[in-house]
Amino acid sequence: MSQAKLVEMAKRNLAHVKAGTVDQAPGVSRVPAENYYDPERWRLECERIFKRLPLVLGFSAELRHPGDYRSLQVAEVPVLLTRTEEGAVRAFLNVCSHRGAVVVPEGVGKARRFTCPYHAWSFDNDGSLAGIYKEEDFGEVDRSCLGLTPLPVAERAGLIFVILRPRAEIDFDTFLCGYDEILAHHHFDDCHHVGRQTLVGPNWKVAYDGYLDFYHLPILHRESFGPEMSSDALYDAFGPHQRVSMPNPRYLALEERPEETWEPARLIGGVWTIFPHISIADFKAGGKLYMVSQLFPGPTPDESITVQNFLAKREPDAAQRREIDEMMEFLAHVVRDEDYSTGRLIQKAVKTGARTDFLFGRNEAGGQRFHRWVEEVIHTEDDALGKLFAAGIDG
Ligand code: FES
Ligand SMILES: [Fe+2]
Repeated sequence: MSQAKLVEMAKRNLAHVKAGTVDQAPGVSRVPAENYYDPERWRLECERIFKRLPLVLGFSAELRHPGDYRSLQVAEVPVLLTRTEEGAVRAFLNVCSHRGAVVVPEGVGKARRFTCPYHAWSFDNDGSLAGIYKEEDFGEVDRSCLGLTPLPVAERAGLIFVILRPRAEIDFDTFLCGYDEILAHHHFDDCHHVGRQTLVGPNWKVAYDGYLDFYHLPILHRESFGPEMSSDALYDAFGPHQRVSMPNPRYLALEERPEETWEPARLIGGVWTIFPHISIADFKAGGKLYMVSQLFPGPTPDESITVQNFLAKREPDAAQRREIDEMMEFLAHVVRDEDYSTGRLIQKAVKTGARTDFLFGRNEAGGQRFHRWVEEVIHTEDDALGKLFAAGIDG
């Protein structure tokens, strides 16, 4: 794995620590206010971003064994994730090939076979059609054409990436830009999925802006964790995916040691975002606790859904469980009552006509890059999508 890349990032951080500087974009950028509420724009984002790019829909930790499954709704699409008897992760549209019923109710469980609740057609966990109730009424049927519709899926760094369309316009490696090799240092595949909670927020980009934004930490979060935080941010970009960190004086202690001995575990702090909708941050509760937030557009341009997933390095005992529960409550409070309550007011404000556009400062380079990528992706046709990710937009 790419320890050398982590060292390179740490050295860049160290240079900023010594110089007392932060990343500065070449200029301030502007995002039109209507990008946050215009229904046509929002529809384009749903179709061209959320229905066309790989999304993180699950975790190796929750589909650890053959037979494990998870059924979920994503942006109005019913999805079924399974681990087959051969150990592969598969993803399907959770839609019965008979007359379209949702086959597996939302939730997690273990099963080799699923039976549709409407007329009892059954499907194996590799998606193949296993049984038809009163088959004689259908005459000769080609079962091979009547399985669950598969979706493109890849398991990388303990995360399960799925494209919500049967035909992929982009391959997973091109999309990931090597970022998965760095994410692997978190060892999510060894973690335990210990909790999940859902929050309703403003437009998905109003919400997501906050995850790339350290500028607000000491201000908006002054009553919670803000006082320990600096607003200074450094951005490491892998295509559209960005790690956001603060200049870290603790890296100074590493300097006397040969670089090959710098332990990855000491170099992976910060917020790790995966375009277009994931933020990963870590906390101390029952040991190291990761919060992986998945953001999805809601039913209208003005709403989004955030699913906070919690991954722990070990199976918690009773005392650790209490700490994790308290931390989950705290993080729901911070995001709901500080970030998203502010975001909901922003959602109203963007429509008032008070301003035609909003500003991203030179140290808000993460937000600048995110909005540039959103813009590029929604204006890129299917056949050019791979090229966009391969070439990047920074050069
Ligand atoms: S819709 Fe599933 S068996 Fe009829
Ligand atoms: Fe925040």
